[in-house]
Amino acid sequence: MLLQKRLTLLYTTLAGGVLMLFGSLVYGLVSVVLLNQVDASMTQSADQIIAQLRITSSNHLAPRTSTAVQLGEGILFQVWGNDRQLQFSRPPGQQQPLDESGMRSGRPIFNTVEAAKSRMRVLSVPLKTERGPAGILQVGENLELVDVALSALLSAQVALAILAMALTGLMAWIATGRALAPLATVTKVATQITKADDLSRRIPLAGETSGEVGQLILAFNDTLERLEQLFTTQRRFMADVSHELRTPLTVIKGNVGLMRRMGESDEESMASIEMEVDRLSRLVGDLLLLAQAESGRLPLDMAPVELDTILLEVFQQMRVLTGERLQLKLSEIDQIQLIGDRDRLKQVMLNLAGNAIQYTPAGGIVTLSLRKNGEQAQLIVSDSGPGIPAQDLPHIFERFYRGEKSRKRNPGTGFGLGLSIAYWIVRNHGGTIDVSSQEGKGTTFSVLLPIRKLEAALQTQPVNLQKGQK
Ligand SMILES: Nc1ncnc2c1ncn2[C@@H]1O[C@H](COP(=O)(O)OP(=O)(O)OP(=O)(O)O)[C@@H](O)[C@H]1O
Ligand SMILES: [Mg+2]
Repeated sequence: MLLQKRLTLLYTTLAGGVLMLFGSLVYGLVSVVLLNQVDASMTQSADQIIAQLRITSSNHLAPRTSTAVQLGEGILFQVWGNDRQLQFSRPPGQQQPLDESGMRSGRPIFNTVEAAKSRMRVLSVPLKTERGPAGILQVGENLELVDVALSALLSAQVALAILAMALTGLMAWIATGRALAPLATVTKVATQITKADDLSRRIPLAGETSGEVGQLILAFNDTLERLEQLFTTQRRFMADVSHELRTPLTVIKGNVGLMRRMGESDEESMASIEMEVDRLSRLVGDLLLLAQAESGRLPLDMAPVELDTILLEVFQQMRVLTGERLQLKLSEIDQIQLIGDRDRLKQVMLNLAGNAIQYTPAGGIVTLSLRKNGEQAQLIVSDSGPGIPAQDLPHIFERFYRGEKSRKRNPGTGFGLGLSIAYWIVRNHGGTIDVSSQEGKGTTFSVLLPIRKLEAALQTQPVNLQKGQK
């Protein structure tokens, strides 16, 4: 919880700083106002005293009346003559000027001096008559009350600041603690997931989803979901590959064992071994191609390709294969040139047409067509075969997926990789592949490929295939 501590400290310091700034402003303002008040009252007292002074014949100053004792009653003052002789003062009998520096100033001046117990404010006023300078009047006022008021203000401010900082700290601690609590849960669950190696766990979403932490949890759960999917796919893939490898290996081992027991090579066993080795090579080749295509690193030999020519080749090749068993038709063929990998595109056509021929029973019809559709080339392979059951349809492009019927009817033939390979090749060409099928009536595969210029095709980055993994 380092963040909680840091945030609390930050808020507390901020609050303290603001209060200190505000406090010193108030303190300064109050002390200026109080001093101004003291100064004003001292000016008034000085005026009163001056009004009651008279000038003697020797240009000396003396109280005007015999009531001199009452002069400036309640006020602390001194009247000094030109020769720095104390004329009179209240209280009487002082020796030192109230403010030494004020004695030398040629104009009225306020000074604050340190007195015995507290500070004192002193106003020094030079006195003049027509005959020249007559002396100096110094009026003093104790600042004890002002100092008491100011120190009370200071104590109150300090106490308030400490209280406010403590409160801010407490509130910040609680608030940040609450805000960060879900993060602690995220960390805990993430650690548990790592320790238990259990990707099926999710972080519980407490509270609103729109907050930052809510968003984080959602994103984290999405990542977990994706990881779990990837791991499941990976595991299934391993199982499928092992399964597909085992059958041919068992057959080969059986045949080799048989020949050893017989002590001579037998043609039938050799043929069987050869067939299984071919099958294994095909499997390994297909897997390599899929791995490259899925990771976006399928080496494509991009060049201008005439799709119609390839389709014609495929048509001819397939016709030889089907013979009289099926009716193979070429319904429409537009001349289309696009940028692509000739061999890979041919492989797509072979896989689709191969499936149609393989899964359509004798007497059925398989139709191939190639049509220009705006900026796209559309290749359609349709058949009058048994169709693909609705429950199989979403999965047929997955690796190793084979429909129930195909597995039962033709065991040991296909691997269930043909459509996956077609899907990834088409995707690597920036195209799409779709299927529509009705059980009992037939299946139609449609491939759309963008007719791109060479530059555009070369600029295209390999698609990131992780996302739409099939
Ligand atoms: N034209 C079709 N008619 C009926 N079912 C089809 C058709 N095309 C594909 N399928 C179904 O989709 C499954 C997957 O096809 P895919 O081509 O990927 O694998 P496969 O043909 O079984 O094996 P492989 O192509 O690796 O030899 C097939 O097993 C089959 O069930
Ligand atoms: Mg196939």
